[in-house]
Amino acid sequence: MKGVPPEHLAELYFNRYPQEVDPVWLNPCVDKRHREIWNPGKKCSDFPSLLVVGPQKTGSTALYTFLKLHPNVSANLDSPTSYEELQFFGSPNYNKGIDWYRSFFPSGRAVKFEKSATYFDKEAVPMQAGALLPSAKVIIILLDPITRAFSWYHHQRAHNDHAALSHSFYDVITNTDKHNREVQSLKTHLLRPGFYYEHIQRWRRYYPDSQIMYVDGEQLTSDPAQVMTDVQLFLNTDVLIDYRHILSFEDEKGFYCIKRSVGRPKCLGAGKGRVRQYGQVDEKSRAYLQQVFYTPNLALKHLLAQVGSPIPSWLAANS
Ligand code: A3P
Repeated sequence: MKGVPPEHLAELYFNRYPQEVDPVWLNPCVDKRHREIWNPGKKCSDFPSLLVVGPQKTGSTALYTFLKLHPNVSANLDSPTSYEELQFFGSPNYNKGIDWYRSFFPSGRAVKFEKSATYFDKEAVPMQAGALLPSAKVIIILLDPITRAFSWYHHQRAHNDHAALSHSFYDVITNTDKHNREVQSLKTHLLRPGFYYEHIQRWRRYYPDSQIMYVDGEQLTSDPAQVMTDVQLFLNTDVLIDYRHILSFEDEKGFYCIKRSVGRPKCLGAGKGRVRQYGQVDEKSRAYLQQVFYTPNLALKHLLAQVGSPIPSWLAANS
């Protein structure tokens, strides 16, 4: 290959090793040589030490909002395009590099975190996150995948998604017409993240069990103060705050909201906590999805028992 110009050489190389086209950002502080050549003004403590990875529609915004109230914890600055979620890993943002990512975490509190609920089931994310943030802690929220799917369906209806508006929930989940792209895509969004076991196994390839916490999504709704105690213990925060003094149940919303010194508690926005408006999954759909998720749920149950994590009540009922 002597005398071949670099561009041509690169082309030859990447044709041969296409899997290497995308960079993998490693943590500059893991390797002494990398740290030495990194700009002295940049610190690895600028990166988050906690990732809340979703999945979507499991209560991730509630957890994010409650965590931000902790005096030792801070979230990233909002992204101009995807707001509170940076969606760095597993997306085109990844190619913007680690300085782009770092810039969203101004120095401040001890625990910096980001919540991107899209991370959980995206193939590349655990590897990319594990390479850059090997010592980060990871929180995964487990809500009954049937409830999660139904919530996503209604989220899409509220956003005027054509497939969701023109098909019943049952029609979408049972659709087998591969040519109907929009319904197939909706079906994928409803079901795929709910195969918790397979996605978790991918995370476990890159993070030890001691760094992963599983939050019961139902408990997050019914008893968020207890969940927040458990989360603080997992994070080992210097200060343990009692969220019973911070959160109160709001009848009108049907969910826990944040108390204020004056006036009514502040609840999450209208787009979160719609369940009262759309009600329960119909029996036919529930029975169908119980079959779909039966085996993966069983595997999940065994996995949680193996790692010593409590079994959520919705999962305990799957037998
Ligand atoms: P619904 O809007 O379908 O009721 P995410 O933030 O991951 O998208 O999850 C949204 C879901 O969080 C809501 O789904 C709701 O059931 C649940 N949730 C849990 N605690 C909540 C709270 N305190 N306020 C609003 N929604 C909450």
